Amino acid sequence: MKVMVVGGGGREHAVIRKLKENPEITQIYALPGNGGIARDAECVPIGAKDIASIVTFAAANNIDYAVVTPDDPLVLGCVDALEDAGIPCFGPRSEAAIIEGSKVFSKNLMKKYGIPTARYEVFTDMDEALRYLETAPIPTVIKADGLALGKGVLIAQTRDKAFSAVREMMQEKKFGHSGDQIVIEEFLEGPEVSVLSFTDGKTIVPMISSMDHKRAGDHDTGLNTGGMGTVAPNPYYTPEVAARCMEEIFLPTVRAMNAEGRTFKGCLYFGLMITEDGPKVIEYNCRFGDPETQVVLPLLESDLFTIMRAVTEGRLSEADVKFSNQHACCVILASAGYPEHYEKGYPMEIPEEIREQVFVAGAALKDGILVTNGGRVAGCTAVSDTLESAIRDAYALAGQVRFDNAYCRTDIGQRALRALREV
Ligand code: AMP
Ligand code: GLY
Repeated sequence: MKVMVVGGGGREHAVIRKLKENPEITQIYALPGNGGIARDAECVPIGAKDIASIVTFAAANNIDYAVVTPDDPLVLGCVDALEDAGIPCFGPRSEAAIIEGSKVFSKNLMKKYGIPTARYEVFTDMDEALRYLETAPIPTVIKADGLALGKGVLIAQTRDKAFSAVREMMQEKKFGHSGDQIVIEEFLEGPEVSVLSFTDGKTIVPMISSMDHKRAGDHDTGLNTGGMGTVAPNPYYTPEVAARCMEEIFLPTVRAMNAEGRTFKGCLYFGLMITEDGPKVIEYNCRFGDPETQVVLPLLESDLFTIMRAVTEGRLSEADVKFSNQHACCVILASAGYPEHYEKGYPMEIPEEIREQVFVAGAALKDGILVTNGGRVAGCTAVSDTLESAIRDAYALAGQVRFDNAYCRTDIGQRALRALREV
């Protein structure tokens, strides 16, 4: 079978590595892929948002199955277009991808169906938003409605910062039309848990939980990034919390999407906060998380392609979805300066013996040499029997991947380790 994966980051590299375990797959194309993925799939220089070219390529190359992983093409209707051309896909159609594409939609969905989340107000008028903020409790959280490369959320610790965030989004259009509407919501506290799940709209099967490290600096300082590292499982996701999430959040979300005529099929990602009042939804994503996928899929013992096809065909209840009881840690090596200004084009060295444990994100091949080409460059993932050894091994891997201006957080997994020791 010929499979096509749309996207070109570390997450896609992890998906492709896992797909390769299925012997039925004879060929994998990555659109556009990247210089590291090129070792595992045939990269085709078509951008993930160029839906017309993606469909043309799929038809011309007799693609049997497509996996669409990034948010932009999903929200823009890539799965709709491929399915309409007769190509079975893993991923939601755009009507369901809106659960990530519009925070106003997802907040209203949660309110309508009683799914626990932070209290909030929606604003389309800047002056109203500013008036509301004059008396709103501080800290407060301001979110642009649409996609904003993971940067559309500001936690304002002072009223002045809240005012300026609203002006930046609504007046200066920092995130373009994504800021035409904004959500202002209650600031919640508690540990965060990421749960990716498979769902075919009838059955929902959570994957192993994970913990992201979103801020650029050690001890959660600095700017928000796409994610600087992950561990799985997440010690805060106890069996009791998991049971509550299933009853209060996961099943109600699947049912709510069906009731809205927006059946979700694919990977539904729950960004959760475990508050004193129980688990609450911080965000939904309509896709695999990055870098959560880099720790979750290496722990998946079942065959990914079989599960994906079961999702597409509405047979998820029959599929085997089993995870190892080991631990995984992924340390992201980034270009110094990320998520703001950074240099790229530096040659990279990944020793052959650790190549299978490195997921390449921002890298390109230039005259046959692998060079850095993005903010997040590579994810070094170790799987081990204990969290402690997984962390140690992941950092040992990170030490062997070399490029100028490399930067990583030094405390990935430490919060989870502390939590494990408290339990
Ligand atoms: P998001 O892009 O929605 O995942 O938000 C980015 C980060 O902002 C989350 O991972 C949380 O750490 C934080 N955050 C978002 N919403 C809230 C909230 N209501 N209260 C506290 N922190 C939040
Ligand atoms: N790591 C968070 C995300 O993928 O949105």
